[in-house]
Amino acid sequence: AEGDPAKGEREFNKCRACHMIVADDGTEIFKGGRTGPNLYGVIGRTAGTEEGFRYSPALVAAGEAGLVWDEENIIPYLADPTAFIRDHLGDSGARSNMTFKLARGGEDIVAYLISVSE
Ligand code: HEM
Repeated sequence: AEGDPAKGEREFNKCRACHMIVADDGTEIFKGGRTGPNLYGVIGRTAGTEEGFRYSPALVAAGEAGLVWDEENIIPYLADPTAFIRDHLGDSGARSNMTFKLARGGEDIVAYLISVSE
């Protein structure tokens, strides 16, 4: 489904407690917390590779196994990060450090993330 970036920007308020969006040149696109990694350019990025952020072993393993975030896979990840990572790794004991779950509106957030990262 095609997302609406304007709606996604409003929806991003659900993420801001833990995530900021800061461009490579330091421009602050969306102010937020540091519990989660900077989401600038996350679509197209290998999972678990934002410089300097301490990820769960599970997300690092998923990235090493080839997980690259795209418009499709990020939707089920947001809906249930631990279930997504368990399924991806085939490891029922894996755990995500992202405890938040987004029930709906993922495609709008994805459209917003892409629109600010170009
Ligand atoms: C990781 C998106 C809300 C905490 C991630 C990743 C994405 C993401 C794409 C993987 C990044 C990467 O591989 O570099 C979002 C979006 C949110 C949201 C779009 C809102 C809809 C939250 C909230 C929290 C949080 C509210 C804190 C309560 C984290 C943490 C990680 C993470 C700790 C690292 C996970 C790990 O190491 O396993 N998030 N997130 N996120 N997020 Fe979120």
